[in-house]
Amino acid sequence: MIQEYEPEATRRATGEAESSRASRGWWDRNADEYQSEHGAFLGDDRFVWGPEGLDEAEARLLGPAPALAGRDVLEIGAGAAQCSRWLAAQGARPVALDVSHRQLQHALRIGADFPLVQADAGALPFADGSFDLACSAYGAVPFVADPVRVMREVRRVLRPGGRWVFSVTHPIRWALPDEPGPEGLTVAASYFDRTPYVEQDEHGRAVYVEHHRTLGDRVRDVVTAGFRLVDLVEPEWPQWNRQEWGGWSPLRGRLIPGTAIFVCERDH
Ligand SMILES: C[S@@+](CC[C@H](N)C(=O)[O-])C[C@H]1O[C@@H](n2cnc3c(N)ncnc32)[C@H](O)[C@@H]1O
Repeated sequence: MIQEYEPEATRRATGEAESSRASRGWWDRNADEYQSEHGAFLGDDRFVWGPEGLDEAEARLLGPAPALAGRDVLEIGAGAAQCSRWLAAQGARPVALDVSHRQLQHALRIGADFPLVQADAGALPFADGSFDLACSAYGAVPFVADPVRVMREVRRVLRPGGRWVFSVTHPIRWALPDEPGPEGLTVAASYFDRTPYVEQDEHGRAVYVEHHRTLGDRVRDVVTAGFRLVDLVEPEWPQWNRQEWGGWSPLRGRLIPGTAIFVCERDH
């Protein structure tokens, strides 16, 4: 009988290489489950920014509908590239990038007919000024040790005037247990503790990593990378959404933000 080791959850330091390796392995192993659990909510060709269900068709954070047609758009941490499918339907030319091969296989399964690129967000395999827009719905940014490096890479591949919009777990959630019920409403850890959340195997090797940045850190990251912050959107939990997604739930969503969406621009 093969005994599967239950990873140990801890908070400890972890660097870029270990984080990237852990993400690639975890998402390759868990892509099937992620897509079967969340695929219906995400929709095969919708652009959903997070568990609240905010839809780009209504939010228009990348710009008004006519501004998408003919635009080169890079989606980072695309998963099954549902967002890119929606962008393609608007007449944009998306490229979907993810570190996980298995996630990109799901993009093929649901019918992506645009370029899919397996690469790390910290080293984008594109020439300077290749894209008009870049976006990411919970992709890559929460999982990297050096978010400024990702921001700089995104700025490099954007053309002047380009927009970069990304969503992450709202930083306030790090102070609370990741539970959908009332136990997830009591502060249990310091919001200011940036020590990463790590799940590790029996040899102490990280198999899953998430990195915490405070709201101020995230603002500094985008500004340090040379972006202008245009907006910071904290979607409210809508009445229609009854679903729980991990620690995101209607109960908590009515009281505290669960997602932060940063809208940034490269001026020159
Ligand atoms: C929570 S999923 C989000 C996927 C998709 N955007 C969605 O909304 O379903 C996070 C994605 O980020 C990808 N990812 C994690 N670290 C990455 C990295 N360093 N570079 C590129 N992609 C990464 C994962 O493989 C995974 O597909």
